[in-house]
Amino acid sequence: MLEQDNNFTLPPNVTCFSRSKNAEISERHFYLTRLRDRELPYQEFRKTANNLFELIADAMIPHLQNHEVILTPIFRAGLSLLPVFMSKIENSKLCSIGVKRNEATAQPEPYLFKVPPEISPDAKFVILEPMIATAGTMCYSLSMMKKQGYNLKDIEIISIFCALEAAERLHNEFPEIHIHTEVVDPILDDNKYIVPGCGDFGDRYFGT
Ligand code: URA
Repeated sequence: MLEQDNNFTLPPNVTCFSRSKNAEISERHFYLTRLRDRELPYQEFRKTANNLFELIADAMIPHLQNHEVILTPIFRAGLSLLPVFMSKIENSKLCSIGVKRNEATAQPEPYLFKVPPEISPDAKFVILEPMIATAGTMCYSLSMMKKQGYNLKDIEIISIFCALEAAERLHNEFPEIHIHTEVVDPILDDNKYIVPGCGDFGDRYFGT
């Protein structure tokens, strides 16, 4: 079954790989359709996701040439992209970001923000986050990086499923940042899950 191409207009800050017209398109749609299948066992989900990450990493490498690359997974689901990206970009360094909700104030707060000690002036931060639903954690993480003095123009976001609402919010709040996503899905459900999406990406990838 081919992945349906949602035909709505995307904000200009988004590159959507599944809408491109390249040779791998039927392969990409095959992987996406598998990831959407809630019955797929986690081992197969992980293999399929890794196949898609390979295609995405290959598409991103030309944008990253001549830059130092700081891979920046947002914990936990973002860790899934790390092995493929680290093996393809051998000199990359790691920046770790973890954000949790403070149960007393209901506000997001960081529990982890670790940047390499030395960063070259041409460095690009490549944020890895397979699901961008409301963009709440993403906007919080970007604000944190801005406060620390990092130039937002040096940041690229990689995602697999991005909600339209999140893409629009990021465009309004951080217009200088580009999102490279496999697909943009139109809806968030009452629990802020992406529809059709793939469920909880971290649980499905890590088998938890
Ligand atoms: N995180 C997920 O893993 N899935 C969603 O649909 C939204 C956020």
